Amino acid sequence: MTARAGGEPTAAAPADGPPVVELSHASFAYPDGPLVLDGLSWALPPGRATALLGRNGSGKTTLLRLLSGGLRPASGELRLRGEPVAHDRKGLTRLRTTVQLVVQDPDDQLFAASVEQDVSFGPLNLGLEETEVLARVEEALDALDIAALRDRPTHLLSFGQRKRAAIAGAVAMRPRVLILDEPTAGLDPHGQERLLEVLARLRAAGTTVVMATHDVDLALRWAQDAALLTPEGLHAGPAAAVLARAEHVAAARLRRPWGLAATDVLRAHGLLSPAAPGPRTPEELDGYAG
Ligand SMILES: Nc1ncnc2c1ncn2[C@@H]1O[C@H](COP(=O)(O)OP(=O)(O)OP(=O)(O)O)[C@@H](O)[C@H]1O
Ligand SMILES: [Mg+2]
Repeated sequence: MTARAGGEPTAAAPADGPPVVELSHASFAYPDGPLVLDGLSWALPPGRATALLGRNGSGKTTLLRLLSGGLRPASGELRLRGEPVAHDRKGLTRLRTTVQLVVQDPDDQLFAASVEQDVSFGPLNLGLEETEVLARVEEALDALDIAALRDRPTHLLSFGQRKRAAIAGAVAMRPRVLILDEPTAGLDPHGQERLLEVLARLRAAGTTVVMATHDVDLALRWAQDAALLTPEGLHAGPAAAVLARAEHVAAARLRRPWGLAATDVLRAHGLLSPAAPGPRTPEELDGYAG
């Protein structure tokens, strides 16, 4: 049913290489439930930032769990650098050294007694030297602004602090593909900006980053590519083009991003030529005045 770019004129994103991870014609239903995803294909080219959007219950979390190997498609396949992933111990271990998922609810991810122990767990499990583990943990705690919380029991942290601890655990694995399920939900504005800085640094180092979000303005300013999960399928492509498709945006129960509305106003007043890109944030609007 669905195609890589939803079979729609939103041009496929320019790939910087073959997909690092890819779902091909994947279908999935939970036991005794209806099909959540039906023949869906989605390819992630390396090094790009992608936002995944869709209404509650549309299947975003399910799709991200399929991409990271936590769920197995009933039909279709998952490929890592073009190779089918075997859903056995060896195949999933290989997948997890490349692809890390930060789940929506940090309480489903955190389990160790303290923040530091939790963030160390993955790198220790990779069998890294102790100095390397320490360096990665330090870097991840700093990046998420939680170094001061390192000895605190995770269950006594605030929701936003737990969320940051869960993200730090994935960052410490230095994955090639980092998948985050609604990472900004519950973070204060400062925490959101800090997280975006962390993700920008990871991207500069070549990490592919995928983020599920309901925030269209965040998607427009942060993501190069966007994918809208609607009842008709997945519509994927360059973020500005995907988010400009009113019927798909409505089908995903989203609103029009602020930047695209501002772009329309600028063009209507002759302040922006039809081909020129518009502002994505209120700060960028400054550049268009006069
Ligand atoms: N463990 C489960 N067992 C059975 N059904 C499930 C399970 N998890 C999700 N579902 C169902 O699968 C569908 C897709 O759920 P999913 O969590 O993937 O949606 P979502 O897009 O992530 O939603 P949200 O925006 O609320 O996070 C929903 O109808 C949901 O009720
Ligand atoms: Mg979800």
